[in-house]
Amino acid sequence: MTLAPCTALAGTNIALVKYWGKRGGTLNLPAAGSLSLTLRELDTRTTVRFGGAPEASRSAAARDRVVLNGQEADEKTRRRVGAFLDLVRARARLDEPAEVVTENSVPTAAGLASSASGFAALALAASRAAGLSLPPDELSALARQGSGSAARSIFGGFVEMRPGVKEDGSDAHAIPLLSEDAWPLRMVVAVTSEGPKAIGSTEAMQRTAATSPYYRGWIDSVDGDLRDARAAIAERDLPRLGAVAERSALRMHACALAADPAILYWSAATMAAMHTVRDLRARGIAAFFTIDAGPHVKVLCEAAQASVVASALAATPGVLRIIVASPGPGARVAPEVVG
Ligand code: PMV
Repeated sequence: MTLAPCTALAGTNIALVKYWGKRGGTLNLPAAGSLSLTLRELDTRTTVRFGGAPEASRSAAARDRVVLNGQEADEKTRRRVGAFLDLVRARARLDEPAEVVTENSVPTAAGLASSASGFAALALAASRAAGLSLPPDELSALARQGSGSAARSIFGGFVEMRPGVKEDGSDAHAIPLLSEDAWPLRMVVAVTSEGPKAIGSTEAMQRTAATSPYYRGWIDSVDGDLRDARAAIAERDLPRLGAVAERSALRMHACALAADPAILYWSAATMAAMHTVRDLRARGIAAFFTIDAGPHVKVLCEAAQASVVASALAATPGVLRIIVASPGPGARVAPEVVG
């Protein structure tokens, strides 16, 4: 069978109401909803090509080839991608191995949510390359099986992840809330380290759920935050949305900090950047931070104030560099290059 390759693009997303906890089982189902903003500048471009004759002695996943930022991927990444491609192969009734070539616009090791854009781009490129044409909600549910946050990067702008109730996970997918051009905001990213994160999100979530005495309280707080965030987005009310975002991030980290052994993603620079944001607010600038499973600080503000916010963060001790990102579109197939 001849299958055409497909190239897809997806932006990463930053959660304003955090996802931190799974429902259990093998389908990577979230324990609660979440809400995020998809970004334009931090993205992944992935090409998938299925081909080669099936071999009786080796599974297709054992023969997949994964090239990440110009280099052969390590075995752990290759296995994770191979397991995801198996889901696509099963759906498309394919047995061919794949070649996956993927480029991130920021270094993967910096831990800037590359799994969100990575698995969103992979879900779209692999499903199309396998001859499938999945509707957005099914694509989102598929991307979720690669990485929970990737389900949200299928859509642009503000996006809500629905945790769903079904055992098969078909209703655990994201939905779009507000398009990327509807509200001129910026996410100013203060990069505070160039290394990989201390502990991966899956392991950290499991440890939090199993050992943090605050886990139940955290999960119970999410629905209220989602309601508040939805209302703030509908009214384009940045102070209200920002307050939810800070509260959600601090509660997520408080819950993880209380795990045993403790999960501590913050460095001195993370803390300093949080204080910079609070100082900016004291000066009347509407800026609000959020922090993911790493030491970087992401600051939501009006587009018109992004340069003031960026300068203040750049002058913060321990901040290495700044990336100013804007709301971006959902995952899409790359336009054909006509040569
Ligand atoms: O997509 P995962 O499994 O890497 O989890 C992402 C978790 C956070 O980035 C910390 C929060 C979120 O909602 O994106």
